[in-house]
Amino acid sequence: MNIRLTLNNRPVSIDVPASSTLLEALRSARGLFGVKHGCETGECGACTVLFDGKPVNSCVMLAAQADGHHLTTIEAVGEHPQQGWRLTEGLDPIQEAFVETGAIQCGYCTPAMILAARALLERDADPTEEMVREALSGVLCRCTGYLKPVQAVLRAAAVLRGEVIEPIEGAAVPAPEVFTPPPGEPEEGIGPGPEVLTRAGVLPRMQVATRLRPWSAVGKPARKVDAVKLVQGKPAFAADFEMRGMLVAKVLHSPHAHAQIRRIDASRARAFPGVAAVLTWEDIPRVVYSTAGQSDPIPGPLDTFSLDRKVRFVGDRVALVAAETEEIADEALKLIEVDYEPLPAVLDPAVATADSAPRIHDEAEYVNFAESDPSRNLAARIHIDIGDVEKGLAEADQVIEGEYWVPKVQQASIEPHVVITYWDEDDRLVIRTSTQVPFHVRRQLSPVLGLPPKRIRVIKPRIGGGFGGKQEVLIEDVAAHLTIATGRPVRFEYSRAEEFGAARSRHPMRLRMRTGVKKDGTITANEMVALSDTGAYGCHALTVTGNTGHKAMALYVGDGPYRLSPNIRFHADVVYTNTPPSGAYRGYGVPQGYWAVERHMQKVARTLGIDPLAFRLKNAIRSGELHPFSTAWSEGREPRPETINTCGLEDCVHQGAAAVKWFEKLGNPAWHAVPGKPHLRRGIGVATVMQGTAIPYLDMGGASLKINDDGSFNLLVGATDLGTGSDTVLAQQAAEVLGVPVDDIIVYSSDTDFTPFDKGAYASSTTYISGAAVVRAAEQVAERIRARAARMLAREATPVEAGEVVLGERHAWAPDGRSVSLAEVALDSLHHADQEQIMAVASYVSPVSPPPFAAQFAEVTVDIETGALTVDRLVMAVDSGVIVNPLTASGQVEGGMAQALGYAVCEEMLYDEKGHPRELSFRDYHIFAAHEMPELETIFVETVEPSHPFGVKAVAEIPMDGVAPAVGNAVLDACGADVVRAPITPERVWRALKGKGDWRSVNGDQ
Ligand code: FES
Ligand code: FES
Repeated sequence: MNIRLTLNNRPVSIDVPASSTLLEALRSARGLFGVKHGCETGECGACTVLFDGKPVNSCVMLAAQADGHHLTTIEAVGEHPQQGWRLTEGLDPIQEAFVETGAIQCGYCTPAMILAARALLERDADPTEEMVREALSGVLCRCTGYLKPVQAVLRAAAVLRGEVIEPIEGAAVPAPEVFTPPPGEPEEGIGPGPEVLTRAGVLPRMQVATRLRPWSAVGKPARKVDAVKLVQGKPAFAADFEMRGMLVAKVLHSPHAHAQIRRIDASRARAFPGVAAVLTWEDIPRVVYSTAGQSDPIPGPLDTFSLDRKVRFVGDRVALVAAETEEIADEALKLIEVDYEPLPAVLDPAVATADSAPRIHDEAEYVNFAESDPSRNLAARIHIDIGDVEKGLAEADQVIEGEYWVPKVQQASIEPHVVITYWDEDDRLVIRTSTQVPFHVRRQLSPVLGLPPKRIRVIKPRIGGGFGGKQEVLIEDVAAHLTIATGRPVRFEYSRAEEFGAARSRHPMRLRMRTGVKKDGTITANEMVALSDTGAYGCHALTVTGNTGHKAMALYVGDGPYRLSPNIRFHADVVYTNTPPSGAYRGYGVPQGYWAVERHMQKVARTLGIDPLAFRLKNAIRSGELHPFSTAWSEGREPRPETINTCGLEDCVHQGAAAVKWFEKLGNPAWHAVPGKPHLRRGIGVATVMQGTAIPYLDMGGASLKINDDGSFNLLVGATDLGTGSDTVLAQQAAEVLGVPVDDIIVYSSDTDFTPFDKGAYASSTTYISGAAVVRAAEQVAERIRARAARMLAREATPVEAGEVVLGERHAWAPDGRSVSLAEVALDSLHHADQEQIMAVASYVSPVSPPPFAAQFAEVTVDIETGALTVDRLVMAVDSGVIVNPLTASGQVEGGMAQALGYAVCEEMLYDEKGHPRELSFRDYHIFAAHEMPELETIFVETVEPSHPFGVKAVAEIPMDGVAPAVGNAVLDACGADVVRAPITPERVWRALKGKGDWRSVNGDQ
């Protein structure tokens, strides 16, 4: 059918099928790729367009509904200010504000947010924060925590009103805050979360470490190098790539949790007009592999096939289809006849290893790793014993036990998994995919596809969030098999229901704690026994669960003699069940561990009647001490001893406590009560946490750097920016060494043909590992520049030694003040004398994994009649070493706290008795929206990590660790409800209160 409308201020007519959604029409018929797909049910808002000036979700509208109307997409909002000779008005003030405030992380939701903001500001020039949050509430963002987008809209509103606004770029980093010790009288007005939640400001508070010399790029709130393209909605993502003759792929998923495929007949599907290929297990080679995107050798069992004759969870693959259109592919799926023989399923991890439990992996090709044992449904087993736990428990005055549970939750990046595959003109298979691990994809798929790695090229375009979910070689093989079968380009993208039903998730666990303590609060022994559910396949089974102990149980070593020789035990069984596989999720097993450890430490401190902060600091590991697990376990590798160089935990505790006025609130009945509302109680809680920075002796980052004629540089990295800002902080590190502005560094990541190897984006490693590789490459290039500049300067007058030349302000400076520009150096080297391409390649593997530390505080209000819980405020004080970019780093912390808040209070994936998932959409699986957020505040406590050239440690994962236990501890403080099973839902609070007996009389005692 033909529709006529005004699209981005121009009259257009579009021919579309009558069934086409507006989203499809705008993307495929008009090439407007700023309109994004995040779901199909009108819940995520990524597809927002302005329809007669109002934001609507284009995925749930038919294109025909737009006939006669005015539509605006992000493509009409503004553009890059420099378009060659053509003058433009540049970016719109809203786009500009999103760039300046660091409101963009992955950028997938950004066009929608900008359009929603535009509709608001056209309606109301001076909106309140509440109005801004309401306006953004229809657009889900999994990255930012909404603080910076809200700040961006308020800032844009002020600009549009003609107000003069302070620039953010180049603003001085706030001076160190001095901690004021407690206690004191409670301040008047200390209360629940204020109405204005953005008082934290665009830049975080920082306790800045002493710099040995002033830096020009590192430590500054530089704009993200990719921000301008993302605010314009440029076609940067994997799905924004079109090819002539491209087929659409679909997967037939299993309706059974466990079944044998007796017979499968795809003949009717194959005969359906428009179907190019249907593949079943009978059509492709049977190659066992692991989908976990990890370095060679994979530290886990090989237990997966692209297609198998057995299905192991509801949602497992049965057949693959490639067709001319999505509708045809959907029809073809219905025509595949499958005769299943249902098998008994095991859904409860607690019974998975019983003799009577059905065996999930009975395939002959299964390849064991370490203690995996498919005959007992055991994907991995871990025993770590440090010191003598039994002796430590015997020496304790008291042994305190507890049992804790954490749920299965999902990464839920707004961009689904998406891949495009095609044969190039050299008969090499190109895989263009939204992945965190392009080099692992190439290596791991090589045997599966029957192609040597040299005939596979993996291109990672912009990624719309990953959070570990894209550290999986999850769907690339589907499109690749179909391209091999048809010879044609194939595009495969998960629907949101497939994301929930067939992608990866966080391992649910049961964790038992046993802690021996002296009366003075000294921990004498600490034990955790974990039961971890890997689901149907063992991807990341060993390493995720190993990290639960490795990171969470390492924090508390004890005090006195126990500090010198701690007694710690971590045992875990990681079991198979007939549920969707668990996998990597930001934090990688550590948030599970800290839910148990930090809820348990609170219990111990309360039992002993000791201040919970003092108790934690008394027993926590300190700088100069041996990481207790470093000699005991290392992700399936040989462990090596590692000393903690820097630990800012004590300052984090002090800064965070000062920010939340901990000592004025804790144990203060006046603060715990809400005047006029006797059914409400306020509470405050804390959790202290540590993570790691990369995997020592294993994770490798690589970078290459070359100078261009104008003195700019191409930085090629194998690292993958998931939206974290890693491309920007890598550019900042290169710019610092080379003495140029950040925008002189053109970053390209990542393509297995062109960029150096990098293990990919995981384990909080990019700024540290890939950053060190960038610094090494930059130092080599700087050395070549200095040598050539010295020669050039010597041509004029006094000789200059290369070692005396200093780089800065785009020039190479002699000690006498003479200089040559880097553009002159580049021209000289490329065109004039002794020509050479100044460039370098470097790589880096770290011998250590320096832990970041943090203190997470939470304030809550609990309705003791209904169990309803409101989280009012989250404050996180973090030691992530030197902060390369306070804007991107604080964005990471805010976004991490928002994700972790879902883990704390509402996110949970459940299955019925037949293994069918309850959550298949954002309607059932709630993630926080802009109008639901508590106040967020980030405080950085810098330390200078000596193992990195700029002293950095990781920031990406640690925000996931402390929120849930801090909220749990705050609920306990508020009303005495000890909820040991996350998430802390109103029902669980209510049941815990009922369990207390006289639950109406509870006080806010700590
Ligand atoms: S893509 Fe339309 S609301 Fe999610
Ligand atoms: S920046 Fe919002 S989803 Fe990534």
